[in-house]
Amino acid sequence: MDAVQQKIEAGREALRFVFSGMSLGLGTGSTAKEFVTVLGDALKRGELRDIRCTCTSTQTEEQARALNIPLFALAEIAPLDLAVDGADEIDAQLRLIKGRGGALLREKIVEQQAKRFLVIADESKVVARLGVGVLPVEVTPFALDVLHARFTSMGLNPVLRLRDGQPRTTDEGHRILDIRVPDVSDIADVVNDIRQLAGVVETGFFPSEASEALIATPNGVRRMTR
Ligand code: 5RP
Repeated sequence: MDAVQQKIEAGREALRFVFSGMSLGLGTGSTAKEFVTVLGDALKRGELRDIRCTCTSTQTEEQARALNIPLFALAEIAPLDLAVDGADEIDAQLRLIKGRGGALLREKIVEQQAKRFLVIADESKVVARLGVGVLPVEVTPFALDVLHARFTSMGLNPVLRLRDGQPRTTDEGHRILDIRVPDVSDIADVVNDIRQLAGVVETGFFPSEASEALIATPNGVRRMTR
C-alpha cells in the first residue's frame, strides 16, 4: 500500500468515529481531504444525518461546499464533538508539527475547540523526534523582515514560504517563515522563545491538542492514544 492509499485508509477509518448529530472540525491537506470525501459520500448516501461542520481553511471549505456538507461558522457550533486533521510529524507523545499546508493558525483554533481531535496520517509521519522537517511559523507581514533577521541570529534558518514565486499569504492574511529546530534544542524551548517575539502569531507545534491518531500502515490502521 503506497502513501496515497494509506491516506485514503486513514480517512475511511476516521469516519467510524463520526455519528449523526455531531459537530465536526474539518482539517486541511491531502489526508484530511480523503476524510472530507468519505464524509460527503456518507451524507449523500444518508448514512449520516444532522452533521454540522466548520473548516480549517478556505481550501477545505471549497471541497466541503462542493460535496454539500453543511457548513457553519466555528462560533455557531463550538465546542465541536470531533475534529479530524492530518499532521506533518507525530511523535510518541502525540505531539505534532502541522502547517506545511499553510493552515496552522485556523487548524489550531478549530482543534482547540474540539472535545476530541483525531489525527489521521500515513506511517511516514511518525517520527522519533519532532523537527525532522521544518517548523512553520505564522507571522504578521509588518514584522516579517525583522523576525526573519531575528530567527537567523537564533540559528533557526528561516525561509519565507512562497507560492507561485510570491510570499504565501495565509487565510488570516499573514506570512509563513519555515524554521529549522536545531538538533541540540528541544522544540518546546524554541517555540517558547519565539512566542515571546511580537509579530509571531502562531507556530505549527501542537503539543497537547491531539487526543489520538490513526496511522495507516501497509498492514492496516494502527491507533495511537495518549
Ligand atoms: C496543513 C496541515 C496538514 O494537515 C499537514 O500539512 C499534513 O498534510 P498532508 O495530509 O497533505 O500530508 O497541517 O496546514
